[in-house]
Amino acid sequence: MHIRTKKWARSELAACPFYEPEGEERKGRWREAFARPQQPLHLEMGCGKGVSTAEMAAANPEVNYVAVDISPDVLGDTRRNLVRAGGEGIDNIWILRADICLIDRYFGPEDGPERIYISFCNPWTERPKQAKRRLTHPRQLMQYRTFLRPGGEIWFKTDDETLFADSRAYFALCGFEEAYRTEDLAGSGFTPNYLSEHEIKYRAMGVPIRFGIFRMTEAAPDFDPTRFRLTPGVRRAALEKADRAWAARSAETERTEGGAEA
Ligand SMILES: C[S@@+](CC[C@H](N)C(=O)[O-])C[C@H]1O[C@@H](n2cnc3c(N)ncnc32)[C@H](O)[C@@H]1O
Repeated sequence: MHIRTKKWARSELAACPFYEPEGEERKGRWREAFARPQQPLHLEMGCGKGVSTAEMAAANPEVNYVAVDISPDVLGDTRRNLVRAGGEGIDNIWILRADICLIDRYFGPEDGPERIYISFCNPWTERPKQAKRRLTHPRQLMQYRTFLRPGGEIWFKTDDETLFADSRAYFALCGFEEAYRTEDLAGSGFTPNYLSEHEIKYRAMGVPIRFGIFRMTEAAPDFDPTRFRLTPGVRRAALEKADRAWAARSAETERTEGGAEA
């Protein structure tokens, strides 16, 4: 994706009191960077221009957010969108410029975020070798595991069917269970849902949006994510495992809810 250079973005970000350029020294101390450190901490990976981030942060002052992206040019827009939605005094969000491939340099277990959002990351479906760059690849999920709070969640959205199915397999292999899943977010009625720049675009085109909530379990997987490749056999087995677990949980929910009504 080509990103246009914006002359104004760097100077505006440099003057922004909630912008952190490559701040490795905040690792383990993110909560104290906020006016209300006791609040839940949610991270967004690849926030882009922050269209949904701005709405979400303004609507939820009782949550602290860190919005991460690698490009200062898009982060200039993020800053403007945040100020437009929440005012100059917005105090529940930090913008972090960082390469998410190295995200465990920036967050540690002491930060313990309760939630991570990943929306419309690049699907990297053209060549199998590129898959390792996906923000949901096991290389990434195993890094998120190092700092996500036990039971923490990853909320993942995409328009790309292949990326969604591959990612479901990645999540299953990396010790995340499916807490929620839909192949059509708009039709599902799921709330709350804040629309990002890409979601607005795909909705207008009538493209169904896939969405899942993946909850980290205590069971850590026993493979090396740096050497991992998703072979068809591993993919099939992982998806079957996720489908079985999903069916079992749905049956259990139906049984307990039916029992509660009886
Ligand atoms: C397709 S855009 C999606 C933006 C937004 N989440 C949305 O839904 O509209 C993907 C974003 O992820 C960022 N990104 C991709 N790889 C990254 C990486 N390794 N580290 C940080 N940001 C990354 C890009 O700069 C871009 O802004």
